Order: sequence, then structure tokens, then C-alpha cells
Amino acid sequence: MKDMIKTLVEAFGPSGRESVVSALLADLVRPFVDEVRSDNMGNLIAYKKGSGGGLRVMLAAHMDEIGLVVSHIDRKGFARFQTVGGVSPLTLLGNRVRFANGATGVVGWEYWLQKRELPKMEELFIDLGATSPADAPVEVGDICCFDRPMVDLGKRLVAKAMDDRIACAVAAQTLIELGDTPNDVYAVFTTQEEVGPRGAMTAAFGIDPDVAVAIDVTDTGDTPKAAFMAVELGGGPAVKIKDSGMIAHEGVKDWMIRSAEAAGIPYQREVLDAGTTDAMVIQTTRAGIPSGCLSIPCRHIHTPSEMVDHGDVLNSVRLLKAMLSEPIAI
Ligand code: CO
Ligand code: ZN
Repeated sequence: MKDMIKTLVEAFGPSGRESVVSALLADLVRPFVDEVRSDNMGNLIAYKKGSGGGLRVMLAAHMDEIGLVVSHIDRKGFARFQTVGGVSPLTLLGNRVRFANGATGVVGWEYWLQKRELPKMEELFIDLGATSPADAPVEVGDICCFDRPMVDLGKRLVAKAMDDRIACAVAAQTLIELGDTPNDVYAVFTTQEEVGPRGAMTAAFGIDPDVAVAIDVTDTGDTPKAAFMAVELGGGPAVKIKDSGMIAHEGVKDWMIRSAEAAGIPYQREVLDAGTTDAMVIQTTRAGIPSGCLSIPCRHIHTPSEMVDHGDVLNSVRLLKAMLSEPIAI
């Protein structure tokens, strides 16, 4: 599974530009499902038909990652940008970015030695190695993402875009390993989560599931000065109780916990202070859809070096399989 993870996390896919990731995932899951299709928002929907008597279950893992969009190119060929999703100037200085056409740039700021405060976004620029606008390999409107290879630390994996390609990998692996199930499973690889969950909104409306589970990363409380949070790397998948955008449906939360306990899979209870997932908009689609979220603990979220625990990843697949393979009572 590490090879699949590496391919997915290194792929180019800022919000609104998910087609490379979508094509990779379509190829990965096609042999294991009954139908693979894309919708008008770019969501990739993999459908595995159930043997009957079960529920229509929607899984949602977002394909997009945070990035930058070029807003201006100056006379010397330096690009100014706006952010796509939650990007901090702290993570940008000296960072490398990559565009869809392969063009690579370095984020620069001249004052890093003199100034004590954080750079303002408008002071930062992308140095494309160009000397004029004509020479620049990108145009206004082009979107880039961080450029980093994955590193395998053994127990822990580090990459850009663990948020949320690690969940795409978990959902894909679940489809690969899931045998007979009474439930109709719609694994949706969603678009534009990082700019306010947009793909999941229309996908949920179109699919109209009985129950939904988003799969996304969550913060941890296990770093030197972390806020109180009862989630740590290596403690197993986290069952979301609440985040700043949603309160998980109690029946869905209980189904997740029951499945974990019955299968002997370690799990953690998640109360996240800031941040939310696709589950927020799925929950309030149509007349309301019972929704929850399986979270994969992740350190350094929205930096170029997001870290997850490999055991948590494997246990997330186990938990989803346990949840989906039996009739669901919520
Ligand atoms: Co995110
Ligand atoms: Zn995410």
C-alpha cells in the first residue's frame, strides 16, 4: 500500500485541478467496483453494488490539496499569488511549488533576516527563474501546489497532501479488499474541499445516500506544546465526535465504535477545535443525511511535511471494511 500512497501524495492536485489524481484513482479502483464515473464537479464516484438488504453508504475522501494561484506577473517575471485553501506564510518561505505543466518555482521574501514579524502574503513572490513575463513558464490563473517527495520513516510517512490523499488511499484500499457486502457502497473522491467543501455537497445530493462517512486527517495532541486533544499518532483511527463545522450523527459514531470494538481495532475519540471535513456539507444536504467522519491522525497539517502513522492507515482500512461488510444499524 505504501507504493499507492507515494503515487497519490506526490501527484499534482490543488483544489479545482484534481484530474491527475482522479485518473490515478479511477485506474486503481476500476477492477474492484461495478461502476466508475465522474460528475460535473469533477468528483470521482466508484460504486460497488451490494448483495441486497443493506444501506446506500457514501464514503467521501477529498482529492484536492492546498495551493497557490498566480494573480500577477511583474516586469521581471516574478509571480504574485493568492492562496487556494488554508496556506500560512510560515510554510511558504523557501518552499518549492509545482504547476500542472511541470514548471517549478521557489517562494521568496527578502526580509527574513531583518524582520521579526511574519511575512505578509503580498510581500511573498514565486521566483520561477524567469526574467520577464514573456519568459515566465506560467500565466495568471495557473495554480500550483507544494513540491515534495514522500519520505518513509518506517512507522511514519511524511508528505505534502497527506491531507487528504492518505484518505483517498484508505478508501481505494478498502474497495480493493472489501469482499461481499449487503450495502451499496459509493466511494466518492471529492473535489474542492480545501476551499469550503464543494464537491461533496453536490455528490451527496446526487447520490442521496442513507448514511455517509467522510475520511479525512485530523490534528493530534501529542506534539511538545499541543493543545489538549485526546488523539495521538499511532493510537488508531479517530472517530469524530465534533469539529468546528459539525457534530457527528450519534448513530454513525456508535456504528463506527461498535465495529472497531467488535473487530478489535484500536480507535480514538476525536473532538477537534478548528477545522472540518466533507461530512459537514453531506450532513446538511437534502433533508439531512446521517454523517460521521473517520479521521486519520496527522501532524503538521497544511505544511509541506504532513506526517501520519502507517499503522493508523492500515487500521483505518480495517475499520472501514468492518463497518461496511455487515448490515448497518444506525
Ligand atoms: Co486540509
Ligand atoms: Zn482534509
